[in-house]
Amino acid sequence: MDIRKMLQEQDQLQVLRFESELTPEEKQNLYSQLENVDFRMIRDAMQSADKKMADEIGPADTLTIAMQEADKETYLQAGNEALKQGKMAAVILAGGQGSRLGHDGPKGTVNVGITRDKYLFEILLENVRRNTDPLHTVMHVYIMTSDINHESTVSFFEEHDYFGYPKDHLHFFRQDMAPALDLQGKLLLETKSGVSLAPNGNGGWFRSLQRQGLVDQMKSFGVEWLDVVSVDSVLQNIGDPLYLGAALVKGMYCGAKVVSKVTPEEKVGASCIRNGHPSIVEYSELSDEMRYAKNPDGTYQYQYGAIVNYLFNIRETEKRAGESMPVHKAIKKISCLDESGAPVVPAEPNAIKMEYFIFDILEFFDSCLFMECIREDEFAPIKNASGVDSLESARKLYTARFGDIL
Ligand code: UTP
Repeated sequence: MDIRKMLQEQDQLQVLRFESELTPEEKQNLYSQLENVDFRMIRDAMQSADKKMADEIGPADTLTIAMQEADKETYLQAGNEALKQGKMAAVILAGGQGSRLGHDGPKGTVNVGITRDKYLFEILLENVRRNTDPLHTVMHVYIMTSDINHESTVSFFEEHDYFGYPKDHLHFFRQDMAPALDLQGKLLLETKSGVSLAPNGNGGWFRSLQRQGLVDQMKSFGVEWLDVVSVDSVLQNIGDPLYLGAALVKGMYCGAKVVSKVTPEEKVGASCIRNGHPSIVEYSELSDEMRYAKNPDGTYQYQYGAIVNYLFNIRETEKRAGESMPVHKAIKKISCLDESGAPVVPAEPNAIKMEYFIFDILEFFDSCLFMECIREDEFAPIKNASGVDSLESARKLYTARFGDIL
């Protein structure tokens, strides 16, 4: 690939400004980074003004717990049958930086135990087995890491002997990285031979799997469905037969688990219909009018919050994987080099961080199974160091759920 020509076309030649000072090895390093830069993401990010402002948002239908009751046995039977046949795999999204928690290491390596060691990753694998062991089957689990935490994640599993999980059913893959841009959309250099990169958000998981040949691998194992979950909830119900069974019986190709919000103000994204497609409306996007809007029966229209447990049919997701996804931009302080090559530690936000979000994938589908689950049974996130959604709150919820002293 002619890197210089490619950069010229993208109006990004400035990243080669120290090229003449680099050793052949450093040059190679820079070129291979540049070959992997997702320029389409940059273009999309710089072109999309806040298109979401013009979106038409309305409430979505939910398969409530009360509604599930009547068909529970049928769903369970269909789900268990598919699980037994190995049709579902799990994807654990563990490429985040967990900046709010401030734990030294990947979030999944947090020790949730109090009187003994009990790690978040270990708990998640136990949650998988709670669904599959009774069926005498083993689920393939794909753990998404990033360049930042890949080695430490893999060595953590090695040190703990994969927590007894069959090693041939555990797979680790790196998510793609996205470059940081200056406020004009130009690539920033972290060093003279390296661009500034950060994980590209939790919405790039499918394309990363595809790029690495892992979707084909899954299909060769006979996997048809993916349960895609965040790493950070100790009650994450992974491989739930009821969920899969309900999707199969209802002929849905994607799903999102939701819980009833404690208050309309709770800071979780709510299920909705956006421009005629299933979606999640972010907390910050909901106007007060929408937040407090009620149905005729007195319930809130945006009552259900998504808990980052999504279900996707592989074949149907593949059909849509080429579609352009919205790029979410955050203005951050990112250390970089200035024009002269001197390091800059910015006092003010100076850069654009770009991310894809998983819930945007729902919008590629015509319908989605928004499936209510019992909050105390399935939702115990660890986001913060203390207080709400912290290690402390998650420990209490875990103990209450499993009666297991940590
Ligand atoms: P969060 O949005 O809570 O982000 O991720 P985070 O990085 O874990 O934490 P903060 O915001 O820095 O404190 C929700 C889920 O998406 C994953 C996270 O690992 C978590 O499971 N994620 C997030 C990725 O896998 N990759 C990303 O680039 C971002």
